[in-house]
Amino acid sequence: MRSHYCGNLNQSFIDQTVTLCGWVHRRRDHGGVIFLDLRDREGLVQVVIDPDTPEAFATADKSRSEYVLKITGRVRQRYAGTENSTMPSGQIEVLGKEIEILAQSETPPFPLNDDFSNVGEETRLKFRFLDMRRPEMLERMRFRSKVTTLIRNYLDRHGFLDVETPILTRATPEGARDYLVPSRTQPGSFFALPQSPQLFKQLLMVSGFDRYYQIAKCFRDEDLRADRQPEFTQIDIETSFMNDEQIMQITEDMAVELFDQLLGVKFDAFPRMTYADAMRRFGSDKPDLRNPLELVDVADLMDKVEFKVFAGPAKDPKGRIAALRVPGGAAMPRSQIDEYTKFVGIYGAKGLAYIKVNDVSNIHNGEGSGLQSPIVKFLPDDALKAIIERTGAGNGDLIFFGADKARVVNDALGALRVKVGNDQKLLTCEWAPLWVVDFPMFEEIGDGQWTSVHHPFTLPKCDVETLKTNPGEAISVAYDMVLNGTELGGGSLRIYNLDMQKAVFKALGISDEEANEKFEFLLDALKYGAPPHGGLAFGLDRLVMLMTGATSIRDVIAFPKTKTAECLMTHAPAPVEAKQLRELGIRLREEAKVAAPATTPTTTPVTGA
Ligand code: AMO
Ligand code: AMP
Repeated sequence: MRSHYCGNLNQSFIDQTVTLCGWVHRRRDHGGVIFLDLRDREGLVQVVIDPDTPEAFATADKSRSEYVLKITGRVRQRYAGTENSTMPSGQIEVLGKEIEILAQSETPPFPLNDDFSNVGEETRLKFRFLDMRRPEMLERMRFRSKVTTLIRNYLDRHGFLDVETPILTRATPEGARDYLVPSRTQPGSFFALPQSPQLFKQLLMVSGFDRYYQIAKCFRDEDLRADRQPEFTQIDIETSFMNDEQIMQITEDMAVELFDQLLGVKFDAFPRMTYADAMRRFGSDKPDLRNPLELVDVADLMDKVEFKVFAGPAKDPKGRIAALRVPGGAAMPRSQIDEYTKFVGIYGAKGLAYIKVNDVSNIHNGEGSGLQSPIVKFLPDDALKAIIERTGAGNGDLIFFGADKARVVNDALGALRVKVGNDQKLLTCEWAPLWVVDFPMFEEIGDGQWTSVHHPFTLPKCDVETLKTNPGEAISVAYDMVLNGTELGGGSLRIYNLDMQKAVFKALGISDEEANEKFEFLLDALKYGAPPHGGLAFGLDRLVMLMTGATSIRDVIAFPKTKTAECLMTHAPAPVEAKQLRELGIRLREEAKVAAPATTPTTTPVTGA
C-alpha cells in the first residue's frame, strides 16, 4: 500500500510523490489549512492539506487522533521558520492530495501524543496494543530484536545449533513452583511447563550435538518483582568438551560484542570474585560494583562486649556482625536513619545501630566523645578504636552495623548498601560486569535438609565420597554473570557420571525411587556415553532491561504479566467451561470457585463437574 515510511522521509525526497500509511498522531486546523502528523513505525511526518483539494480536505477534516490513513502527496521543503529540528523529517512536509480513511478510532483511553507520565501502568497494560504504539516502547522492542539477531549471529558463527525443546514436559527443577497443564488424554496426569530447558539441553549433549542454543521461553510460578516474570526468555546455551573457563570466555565475548555493537560500550575482561568474597564484602552474590561501599566484619572485636545486640551474634558460629561505612554520612538527619532502620526491617534486621564519626582524634565512650551514637556507651574504647581503624572511617562519616544470623545481616546490609549508594549518588561508573564463581553446591534449609544453590545437575569440585560426608562444604563449578547488581546469567559444568548424580540426589534427600521415577531418562542417558558438558543461560529480558535503561522487565516484554501473574489485557488466567474441566477429570474445590474473577467473558459459569 505504501511507498515509504513516514519517519524515513527527508529533504532527499523533495518533489517526489509518496504514498504513506499510518496513524493520525495529531491534527491541527490552522485557518483553513489542516495539518496532520502521520505516525508509523519509523516516526512522524507532517502532512498539509489545503482546501484546493476539497475531497482530501473533507477527509482530513473528518479524521481524528489514531485514525489509520493512506495519504498520497508530494514532499516539499517546509517554509522558512516552520522547520522542526526535533523531528528527523522536520525540514520537509507532504502536501496531501489523496486521503483514504483505512480505519477509524475511538478516542484512546489515554493520549498517545502527549505526556504519558501520569498514566497508570494498569491502564497501559489493559490497552497494551495502544501502549506499544508509543515510540519509547517500540524502540525497546526494536532493540530487543537487535539483541536476539546479534546473539543468533554470534552463536551461529561459533557453531551453535538452534534446537527447540518441549514446552509440555515434566518438571525441570530450578527452584520455583511449576506451572501445570492437565492432560485430557490421561486424566489426573499433568504436564509441567519447563522452568528452563536444562535437562533437554544436557540430553542434546549426550546425543552429540556439541554446541546448542535456544532463545527459550521459561515458566516459573514464583513471587514476582521488577526483574522477574512468570514467563520469561532465556538465551540458553550448552556445550560439550569445554571447561568452565572456556564457557565463561565464549559467553563473556558474546556480552562484550553486544555492548560494543549496540551501545558502543567497551568492556575490559570481566573481573572474577568468589561467592564467599562477594557475600563477605557486599552481602550479596550479585554485587553492584559501581557502588564503592563495602561491608567489614567486626564480630571478632565484640566477643567480650556485653551489649546484647552484639554479644549474641559474636558468639554464634552462624552469626555475623558487619559494619558499613558511609562517607560523609554523619550529616544524615535522624529521620533518614529511621527510614533506613525501617528498610532493613524488611530483611529481618531487628535494628540498625550506627555511629556518627565527628572527630577521629577523640575516640572514647564517655562524655565529650568524638563519636556520636546510641551504642558507643556499650562499647569499650579499644573496640571503638579498632572499628574506626578497620572501616577506615574519617571525620564526617557514618558507620551502620548489622548483627544477627549471617543470612539476615547479608540480606539487610547488602540491600542497605545498594540503597544508600543510590540515595547518596555514590556510583562510580556506568557499567560494572563481573563473574561470581565458586558457589556452594547446597544451602541448608533446616535440620540437615539441603537444597541446590544452582540446580541438582551442577558438578561439584569434590569427589563422590567428600560430597557424601560433607555436603555443606562442597563447592560447585558454577558461575554467574552479574551486571550492575543484576544476575544476568548463570551456568555450570554438569555432572556426567551416574554415581555422582545419584550422590547429589541423595544429598538433596531424593530417594533412589523418586530419582528413578522423575529422572529416569537422565540417569539412563548417563549410562550411554555422556560427554563432559556445561553451559549457561542468560535472562534475555534482564539483559534488554539493563541495556535500554528500563526499570522493569515488564517494559521490555511486549505482553507482560502483573505482579500477581495476570494479563490485564486478555484476563488470563480465566475460569474455563465446566465441559472442559469434565474432560480433564477436574472438579474445583469450593474456595477455587469463589476465587474465580467475576469479569471473565466465559459463557458458561463454572459450577464444577
Ligand atoms: P537460572 O535459574 O539462573 O539458571 O536462570 C538463568 C537466568 O534467567 C533469568 N531469570 C529470570 N528472568 C526473568 N524472570 C524470572 N522469573 C527469571 N528467572 C531467571 C536470570 C538468570 O540468571 N538452567 C539454568 C542455566 C544453566 O545452568 O545453564 C538456569 O535456568 O537472568
Ligand atoms: P536496643 O538495645 O534494642 O535499643 O538497640 C540499640 C541500638 O542497636 C539501636 O540503634 C538499634 O537500632 C540497634 N540494633 C538493635 N538490634 C540490632 C541488630 N540486630 N543489628 C544492628 N543493630 C541493632
